[in-house]
Amino acid sequence: MIDSNVLSQQNHAIIVAAGQGERSGLGRPKQYEALKGQPMVRYSSESFLNHQNIAKLWIVIGTGQEYQLATALAGLPDFEVVIGGATRQDSVQNGLSAIEAAGGAKNVLIHDAARPFLTHNLIDCLLGALDDEAAAIPVLPTIDTTINVTDNYAQDTVDRSTLWRVQTPQAFEFKKLLQAHAIWPKGSNASDDAQIFKAAGHRIAVVEGDERLKKYTTAFDFADTSEQNMTQIRTGMGFDVHQLSIGEELWLGGLKIDHDKGLAGHSDADVLLHALTDALLGAAGAGDIGDHFPPSDPQWRGASSDKFVEFAASVIKQKGGRINNVDMTVICEAPKIKPHREAMRQNVAKMLDVSIDQVSVKATTTERLGFTGRGEGIAAQAIATIKMEQE
Ligand code: CTP
Ligand code: MG
Repeated sequence: MIDSNVLSQQNHAIIVAAGQGERSGLGRPKQYEALKGQPMVRYSSESFLNHQNIAKLWIVIGTGQEYQLATALAGLPDFEVVIGGATRQDSVQNGLSAIEAAGGAKNVLIHDAARPFLTHNLIDCLLGALDDEAAAIPVLPTIDTTINVTDNYAQDTVDRSTLWRVQTPQAFEFKKLLQAHAIWPKGSNASDDAQIFKAAGHRIAVVEGDERLKKYTTAFDFADTSEQNMTQIRTGMGFDVHQLSIGEELWLGGLKIDHDKGLAGHSDADVLLHALTDALLGAAGAGDIGDHFPPSDPQWRGASSDKFVEFAASVIKQKGGRINNVDMTVICEAPKIKPHREAMRQNVAKMLDVSIDQVSVKATTTERLGFTGRGEGIAAQAIATIKMEQE
């Protein structure tokens, strides 16, 4: 229930969200599109609903979009729903009429759902300006050199210090805006409410706008954000150690290396590929090598470790991920890794089905310190960076 006596003395907000979003190229109304994980219309709705000086929020939507709006705003406090019209101006008018029918308001802030990232600071600035003025709008300077163009040819440069970009919310004394809309010529299209208000002979104060409050309009705006939305960068790390002993083969990075000792272990004990497998599984959040290839399982006795790497890569793929790059470090005193480095990179690139420049192999000694320094074992570290499409 709306207490009209109290509400008529307070600040209301209207979000117009009844457009088709034709220029977005999405093929559906853009206001319900997910941006950074939430429907666009939810952001500014939350800003108004959580602002202590906004008494009531009115959301103007397209016919039949009640369910979509309710889903997008699930869990948010009370708001009013109004059905919009054919143009933005019609939608604003429907919102104003609904407020009027419910008893009116002191001030009204009119905002486009297409500008999601609305701060409380801007709402405060606009309401503050209304203490002394009948209207206030956020503006931003024109940054680029601005010119006239005629018939595809550049004309004179315009003095851009007088040109300002206008945003929403636009804040007005409710009664004056209602009146201004009433006298605006029927059928004539206004690009915003400030234009209508100005035409009625009122002055409009400007406050500093906010670049973050940019309007989502074209396919480019959404391509940009869907990339941000959809892609998650993840990393995983791996570490492994195997013992060096006489009579074993030495496999490193999928390469058999001639050396007086080899690595002991259940599979071929390729310590580098084991660290890499763990890094890949870690990035995918898919456990570790021991979960998938338990040493207790006889089928992995003497197994070639490229199977483990290829398995981990397939897990990433199944989860909708792509490998960005892997970087590995072998820690040992001997053998020297550098002569084998390119061959190892090539092997790993093949296992992961990536290009060689996405694979790095490095080596270090531990200055003769510790078990690696004494030649008792070889350790390896790996890190993998993957791009996951959001599930
Ligand atoms: N709007 C509205 N009713 C309309 C047209 C527009 O409420 N009949 C709203 C939009 O939902 C948007 C705001 O006005 O929040 C600004 O309009 P715009 O960015 O042009 O959005 P759309 O009209 O949806 O997009 P397009 O013009 O590309 O179809
Ligand atoms: Mg439009």
